[in-house]
Amino acid sequence: MPQWLKDAVFYEIYPQSFYDTNGDGIGDLQGIIEKLDYVKDLGCNAIWLNPIYDSPFMDAGYDVRDYKKVAPRYGTNEDAVRLFEQAHKKGIKILLDLVPGHTSDTHQWFSQAKQSTDSPLAGRYIFTNSVWEAPPQYKFMCGICPRDGNYLVNFFSSQPALNYGFYDITHPDWQMPCDHPDCLATVEALKDIMRFWLDLGADGFRVDMADSLVKNDEEKIATAKIWRGIREMLDKDYPQAALVSEWSNPERAINNAGFHMDFCLDHCKNANNYLFRYTEDGENKGFFNKNGKGNIMDFVRAYVPGYEKTKGNGYISMFTCNHDTPRLTNYIEKEAIKLGYAVIFTLPGVPFLYYGDEIGMKYAKNIPSVEGGFNRTGSRTPMQWNSGKNLGFSSSDKPYIPVDSSEGAPTVENQKSDPDSIYKVVTDIIRLRHENEDLQADGDFEVVYAEENTFPFIYRRGAFVIAVNPSAKEVSVDIDLPVSETIYKINDSKAEDGRVTMGAQSFLMIKTK
Ligand code: GLC
Ligand code: CA
Repeated sequence: MPQWLKDAVFYEIYPQSFYDTNGDGIGDLQGIIEKLDYVKDLGCNAIWLNPIYDSPFMDAGYDVRDYKKVAPRYGTNEDAVRLFEQAHKKGIKILLDLVPGHTSDTHQWFSQAKQSTDSPLAGRYIFTNSVWEAPPQYKFMCGICPRDGNYLVNFFSSQPALNYGFYDITHPDWQMPCDHPDCLATVEALKDIMRFWLDLGADGFRVDMADSLVKNDEEKIATAKIWRGIREMLDKDYPQAALVSEWSNPERAINNAGFHMDFCLDHCKNANNYLFRYTEDGENKGFFNKNGKGNIMDFVRAYVPGYEKTKGNGYISMFTCNHDTPRLTNYIEKEAIKLGYAVIFTLPGVPFLYYGDEIGMKYAKNIPSVEGGFNRTGSRTPMQWNSGKNLGFSSSDKPYIPVDSSEGAPTVENQKSDPDSIYKVVTDIIRLRHENEDLQADGDFEVVYAEENTFPFIYRRGAFVIAVNPSAKEVSVDIDLPVSETIYKINDSKAEDGRVTMGAQSFLMIKTK
């Protein structure tokens, strides 16, 4: 287990939207290098970078054309190495995005495979043997390449699935078992890509659609086996490299597949969803909504079992948002967001902050789709730095996604100088986390008070007790806490004389004796 994860707080950077240094309207690696101090000042000591590889950008870079080459619009491989070096000098780790399940249909592997069954890479992708064969349970592209047969895609039509084999073989004429030499070669190709970037100085990977490798693998048994093999490689040759999975099933991802961390994504009725984005009949019923319609027990039931079962093996990664998810500003307002972030950064595991969330950037509704973003484009708008042109993102007259043009749009500049800002809460809480081991990834976690449809929620992290009341009403509960010190408060709240009293939309962190 990489030791640095114990106190890691990640910042997700969507490179094309962070900072443009050459005026082409698209963020670049030099821009990230120039903003490393900003990341450090936030208290983040690790970065996850969305794909930076050469790509036709049909899916924002998740359609990789060349895994070993930085997309020219972001810079060069040398710039990536400089980024690793500069980040390391400042104590910041860099995780790249690994897209193991599919490539772009412009990748040279695919260009070869689609020609004919005689191509040396014919088995790198999944083709049926005849263009007339397309069993309806699979997503195929049909009749568009010289080779006779249809090929399976993983996500968009431009993303053919790489061949790691099938666990449950239903069509033996074209489905290969996972131990077929062609499938094993795909795994070797993946390891080779990982080694390439680790050798250049990357600190690990966020793994895209990590559960998608082997097909017809309901229980993910064969997929997990591949990842365990990769984890063995890391343990042996790169013991400080970290892997975080886009899986959202901590038992499978951590216990079975050997990931160090697994994202708790926003999936309907999971732990993350119940805290924030859960919506029923058009009404938001997340726990943090001040309407008081959320139920903390839904979160507890969704979160605690997975936490208990994976404790000691790896970490659940809660996030404020990511590039696929509407920002919280789409559901709740500023005070609620402060409370939500204060909780995310005081839960166990390794938290992730999405760029711009620290200043309360808006989810841009109904803007045109850019690079396969569709409704996700609204969470991918350019970072807002200051009051200058394009809010400091770019000197271009036409940033590749329009910058928030609304009046009073938050910027780093205006939020930093506002004592009442989300930025202040985020940086305060992250600082407290770094200062106190109990609040970090491995610190004990225990629910102290959570009742159906009731506020507040109280939990313990080692010597600290944290209470939060997102509702608009004051609430109190009889709990005798041996308070030695009040560490942090948002709005009115106190723990004294055997009672915890929480004002409307409040947060309290105390240290016990
Ligand atoms: C993951 C990525 C998403 C991408 C998809 C296909 O879900 O987060 O952005 O479109 O995989 O690679
Ligand atoms: Ca640029």
